[in-house]
Amino acid sequence: MCGIVGYIGHRDAYPIIIKGLERLEYRGYDSAGIVLFDGKDTNLAKTKGKVEDLKNKSNTTISIDGKLGLGHTRWATHGVPNDVNSHPHYSNSGDLVIIHNGIIENYESIKKALIKRGYVFHSDTDTEVLVNLIEEVKKQEGVKLGKAVQIALNQVVGAYAIAVFDKNKSDEIVVARLGSPLAIGIGENEYFIASDASPFIEFTNNAVYLEDEEMAIVRLGKEIKLRKIKDDAIAYPNILELQMNLEEIEKGGYDHFMLKEIYEQPRAILDTYRGRLLADQGLIKMAGIDQNLEKFLNANRIIIVACGTSWHAGLVAEYIFEDLARIPVEVEYASEFRYRNPVITENDVLIAISQSGETADTLAAIKMAKERGAFVFGVCNVVGSSIARETDAGAYTHAGPEIGVASTKAFTTQITVLTLIALKLAKEKGSISESKYHEFLVELEGIPAKVEKTLASNALLEDIAEVYKDSSNCLYLGRGYNFPVALEGALKLKEISYIHAEGYPAAEMKHGPIALIDEEMPVVVIATRRGHYEKVVSNIQEIKSRSGKIIAVVTEGDVQVTELADHVVEVPETSEPLTPLLTTIPLQLLSYHIALMRGCNVDQPRNLAKSVTVE
Ligand code: M6R
Repeated sequence: MCGIVGYIGHRDAYPIIIKGLERLEYRGYDSAGIVLFDGKDTNLAKTKGKVEDLKNKSNTTISIDGKLGLGHTRWATHGVPNDVNSHPHYSNSGDLVIIHNGIIENYESIKKALIKRGYVFHSDTDTEVLVNLIEEVKKQEGVKLGKAVQIALNQVVGAYAIAVFDKNKSDEIVVARLGSPLAIGIGENEYFIASDASPFIEFTNNAVYLEDEEMAIVRLGKEIKLRKIKDDAIAYPNILELQMNLEEIEKGGYDHFMLKEIYEQPRAILDTYRGRLLADQGLIKMAGIDQNLEKFLNANRIIIVACGTSWHAGLVAEYIFEDLARIPVEVEYASEFRYRNPVITENDVLIAISQSGETADTLAAIKMAKERGAFVFGVCNVVGSSIARETDAGAYTHAGPEIGVASTKAFTTQITVLTLIALKLAKEKGSISESKYHEFLVELEGIPAKVEKTLASNALLEDIAEVYKDSSNCLYLGRGYNFPVALEGALKLKEISYIHAEGYPAAEMKHGPIALIDEEMPVVVIATRRGHYEKVVSNIQEIKSRSGKIIAVVTEGDVQVTELADHVVEVPETSEPLTPLLTTIPLQLLSYHIALMRGCNVDQPRNLAKSVTVE
């Protein structure tokens, strides 16, 4: 969490930093700050609130044209979101300035030691402790900034992506990372620093992503030099050519990123299977699987680890893998898995699913599974992300940047990748008939068009949202493949509209949640023709006889549920394992409209951040 951005070069840093912060705001948005340095003086502006508030504040506080600047958008960990706790932070002498994404876990003991040496602290943050530790090391050891950063970082426990400069050295910024992402954009005699490449994509396509435990001195007129923080060993920068373009990270005429990303799903799903799904040849080509086929085919079981929406995609995958490929699957919350001493053997395959590729718990689960000998496969969206690099092999979802905090296209593209893998393994194992396999390939190829058709129910969902926008609670029910969709629908509603929502397997309702049902309770039921239809109809009857309000997602042409439900949203017919790719869409749109009508910030819901890089 938190977004960091920096610039050093020949341009005015202010507009670059501000635009960069706007693009990184998805990472945290409870406060923001900027510092500019013109080689002589610094100007600092920071404030509780969003980058928009920072812009207003900096109108009066920034009076210099710095060619070096740092900016920060915060998701608070240590210290409440207020002006003082916002970054950047100065050291006591005022010479060093830092921005930081992460947590310094042993900051209290360091702070006590520094206080004994006369240091004074103005904020409650761990970051102010770090910048003063660097200052103290620099003074005590008589070393330059880069060395001081290195020595200081060897004394801290925690996670960080930092950028720090010294007012006495106007041509360099020192950066380092452990556990939080940091990219350096390389321009013509200029450098950009950021949590991801979005702040500098219009200036350069060349970037270096720091690995964990690496640092760099970014100096004008010099090539980037990477060093290992632990032992000073030189590391060679791998300069990547970025594929991202500006259009992908802008709203493109939509009011919100979330809506844009919902509407992008037909294209995103197609991009996910493009070049992989060759229905006419009866082939699925996925390099990460092809090269490691034996690992998958000989696996005792597949363990899926993920968080949030990605965990829901993992649950859908459990059904598909077991149903089609007949491989036992366990789906685990990464945060639980990493701390519960699980039994992992060399014959286990662990699949980690993550849109951002930076989720701290998922990353930790991967590291543990690798140490214990499992083969680790990643399903990520962000190219070059930490999880993509940490895994033994993987498959990108190719959904394009997802900026709305609520995951939408990440979910459907993750399911697409996982379905391709399951089908490929099923074919190799012979657990699926040739004809069924071919049917699936053709059906999957047709999914983007069916998603497009499902999106046409947007106006209907807006009407339904109008009826339920003031509800306090909402229940989501589904069975089989659509049980995870119920969980996902409930998560979407609660995270952006702040309405309490629960997802349940429809049959579990009678074991407790049915007590909640009265005429005030909207119940969203996924009741597609191919998923235990008759059983779900019985569940709907149970809700109806207790006066609950039923919003049903049904297959086109449905009669039975349509007669019972208060509202009906149709999705096209498809084979059962693929239904989540369609039934999810109305639930995303329903949440979007309800949140909007309640005046909520759809793209940046309160207390949340897009990448959860702290545990
Ligand atoms: O980047 P990841 O997929 O690892 O993120 C996992 C969760 O933090 C994420 O899915 C979160 O639950 C979303 N806000 C849900 O919309």
